[in-house]
Amino acid sequence: MLNTQNSPETLTKTLTEPAYSKWDAEKLMQFSANEYMQKLYHRAKNIGDDLYDDRGYEFITLEPEAYKEALVQYMRRRAWSEWYFGTVAQAREITLLAEDQVNLKLRLARQIQDEMRHYDVFAQQLRRYNAEPKISEFVLPPILIQMQKVQVEAETASEIAAANQFAGEIVLSSMTDLETSIFKRLFDKELMDAIYDIERDEPPHIANGRDLILLACETYEQRHRLAVAQEKYLGYMMQLHVTEIIKLGCRRVKPLPVFE
Ligand SMILES: [Fe+2]
Ligand SMILES: [Fe+2]
Repeated sequence: MLNTQNSPETLTKTLTEPAYSKWDAEKLMQFSANEYMQKLYHRAKNIGDDLYDDRGYEFITLEPEAYKEALVQYMRRRAWSEWYFGTVAQAREITLLAEDQVNLKLRLARQIQDEMRHYDVFAQQLRRYNAEPKISEFVLPPILIQMQKVQVEAETASEIAAANQFAGEIVLSSMTDLETSIFKRLFDKELMDAIYDIERDEPPHIANGRDLILLACETYEQRHRLAVAQEKYLGYMMQLHVTEIIKLGCRRVKPLPVFE
């Protein structure tokens, strides 16, 4: 899929993405189902590229202890997310799909397996810092609770995908495929290699999202609901991720992307 890296002129400008949730039927129905799916893809990808571009940040030197603490907290949050956003959402998608969607159900089951491996990758990285994921004791930041709520309250497999595989997983792909990824500067080589290892599993997960979106993308009502789920989730996710990046030793020098 297309990589939409920021050009130098747009670096300081606020990224504005279309708020499809506010569009009326006439506007929203001008696209084919396939075009609308691609619009949703690019909206998430543009946000990931903006959020993770190191040119949107200034670096601050942290005390090693403060950096370590922020990094451990970040990896524990990631481990928690692999566990909960990588199993519960997919299990519900499998359950909500029609009986004859055998192939897609199998692909989602395979995704759950991948996500559990990702959890282990973060657990292993945490052990390098003498820490454990301890997900049962992990205190969720309030914004993460909001993100979880969007997924839990989604009523169809397609809406779950709009707030999972076709939102967070697209944004996360910018961690590795963006040349100016901020994480290349914030993480050491071993952690970055672990992230590359995880991200290699992601294209099939995003493809699961694409196919789930396409299953319920025909009517205005369906498109509107997909837009609402994706916007809500991405809105919260941006806030969480920028807070984490800042804690790792940065200051954001441009506003967060907005839906308009
Ligand atoms: Fe994952
Ligand atoms: Fe994934």
